Amino acid sequence: MIQRIGVLTSGGDAPGMNAAIRGVTRTALDLGWQVMGVRHGYTGLIAGEFIELTVRGVGGIIQLGGTILGSARSKEFQTEEGRLSALATLKENQIDGLIVIGGNGSQTGAYSLWQMGFPVNGVASTIDNDLVGSDITIGVDTALNIALEAIDRLKVTASSHQRAFLIEVMGRKCGYLALMSGIAGGAEGVVLPEVETTPEQVAEIIQAAYERGKTHAIIVVAEGAIYGSQKLSEYFIEHKHRLGYELRATTLGHVQRGGAPGAFDRLLGTRLGACAVEAMAQGEYGVLAGSIGSKITTTPLAEIAGKTKLLDPNLIRLAGVLAR
Ligand code: F6P
Repeated sequence: MIQRIGVLTSGGDAPGMNAAIRGVTRTALDLGWQVMGVRHGYTGLIAGEFIELTVRGVGGIIQLGGTILGSARSKEFQTEEGRLSALATLKENQIDGLIVIGGNGSQTGAYSLWQMGFPVNGVASTIDNDLVGSDITIGVDTALNIALEAIDRLKVTASSHQRAFLIEVMGRKCGYLALMSGIAGGAEGVVLPEVETTPEQVAEIIQAAYERGKTHAIIVVAEGAIYGSQKLSEYFIEHKHRLGYELRATTLGHVQRGGAPGAFDRLLGTRLGACAVEAMAQGEYGVLAGSIGSKITTTPLAEIAGKTKLLDPNLIRLAGVLAR
């Protein structure tokens, strides 16, 4: 019988995490449970950093970016000793179940707690969109819109000066944000970790845009690409004559993660948070709440842990067809 649950946010923060905390808290309180927020992810779980979350305590947070609980990437939790000490803290604080809001590493951590016999459910949240078990994760839509605004703005200044721009976007080893912002932003090219692209191939794309009479060339580069924006820039310093345009590079970095969540991420966070708690109330543990085929549903953490969602090859092909 669940009476008291914990909720934590872990890994990179994502716009919409606060909506998920609110969704978890209010759904659990509605079931008559008590909710303890865990500060600073698994690090705070090991250290026993708990704060009680109330109906009013999670008021006024749905529109905020980041996470009111704080987040961390805990090295200690990756060790068996760390996980045993997290388990001990949960028991000492009479916590009967845990909701983990986070991405790949965080859900693999949740799965190890579940394997140790502790009731855990996950909520799919990462701007990278590389998590199996959810077509789209919390934070992706907002991060994508921030990248898109940057691309639109850079296109304006690029056109004024007849320049090519390399725009590096986040995504760790996954090219989803680069691919989708490239398609939506009308980029001339995308450089992805999933497709080996040499500097010379990028030079050909830029030069072809110049020869077509375009006033700019926008190349969206995923941070995890073999040739990232820095390596490409270095190559183009040595091969200036290849491009036609002058070249500039911009790295969006954490700007993409820091925004206030849009409507999509507020709704997704709310619905996934509620789903993770409702599953627990029905005795369903060791699952991830995600959105699959526009339905909110659960997938066993066993099918998710340690895996990475692959990019749709049709979208990669489409990006190439559209970049003319
Ligand atoms: O996983 C989210 C993410 O923003 C990745 O896109 C990026 O590679 C990483 O986190 C950055 O991590 P940190 O905030 O620890 O520098």
